[in-house]
Amino acid sequence: MTTIETLPSYLDQTPEVAARFARLVERPVALEVKGLTKVFDSSRGAVTALKDLSFSVHKREFTCVIGPSGCGKSTLVRILAGLETATSGEVLVGGKSVSGPGPDRGMVFQGYTLFPWLSVKENVMFGPKVSGTSSVAAEREARQWIDLVGLSKFENAYPYQLSGGMKQRVAIARALANQPQVLFMDEPFGALDAQTRCEMQNYLLEIWKNVDITIVFITHDLDEAVFLSDRILVLDANPGRFREMVEVPVSRPRSNDQVFEPLFGATRKHIEHLIHPPGREQKEAPVMRIAKPDPDVI
Ligand SMILES: Nc1ncnc2c1ncn2[C@@H]1O[C@H](COP(=O)(O)OP(=O)(O)O)[C@@H](O)[C@H]1O
Ligand SMILES: [Mg+2]
Repeated sequence: MTTIETLPSYLDQTPEVAARFARLVERPVALEVKGLTKVFDSSRGAVTALKDLSFSVHKREFTCVIGPSGCGKSTLVRILAGLETATSGEVLVGGKSVSGPGPDRGMVFQGYTLFPWLSVKENVMFGPKVSGTSSVAAEREARQWIDLVGLSKFENAYPYQLSGGMKQRVAIARALANQPQVLFMDEPFGALDAQTRCEMQNYLLEIWKNVDITIVFITHDLDEAVFLSDRILVLDANPGRFREMVEVPVSRPRSNDQVFEPLFGATRKHIEHLIHPPGREQKEAPVMRIAKPDPDVI
């Protein structure tokens, strides 16, 4: 029987997985982050959110970024998207330096960011129309993206008529409609219930398979990170900095049953130890006792 103690090492890649990683690093670099530092001036004084962070992501790679709350994940993704400027360092997308938002990068956030007064189709057409695509062509393209996320029947619906998962599928279609090279996702499924979240993870892997896109996905959920990624960038907090880039040894295509595989568990455990080192567990908060101790209720 496999127990936590007898788990294999997360470094035990099968020859097939090792070959996939060897091919992956041969691909062109889609995103390069060099010495990124971000210091916020706040009422509490200067807060260093990110310190000298460097990493790169290859074309069509699926990378998750994980770390404790407050380690600078959202700050990182905002800088990558060009919504925030770095204090120092550089971000390159397709070899070009990022200096503001651009159509080469798409964003999906946790909060539902659709325009409530526009239909599904109009939301997806919005980006291409702003960048000069004619209405007819934008509508044709929008249908294709809406089809891809499985919402053809809802193209004329308004956001308030959709479930949380459907809204996030529209948000993905809207981001993809601008044909970005890299898609940044900041905890996009964080507000969904467990079942919908699982469905959305499977959807996203299908989309990633079918669209020429590189994905950088922020999450604080270990299972989600291992299930989705090729590699996981683990950050340390205070200040947010590089801890480790973990190659996920779980084979592809992924299926939900792999969660029970020893290698999945080993990878998950390794990352958990990086984020919460054993021996540094937080003390339990004292709880006032208002019932008699019961040996069966422990
Ligand atoms: N606009 C801001 N002004 C001041 N401090 C900020 C600002 N945005 C984020 N921070 C600080 O930077 C750190 C990283 O925040 P954030 O990127 O939101 O972390 P995460 O997404 O990993 O939880 C935190 O200490 C947070 O308080
Ligand atoms: Mg965040």
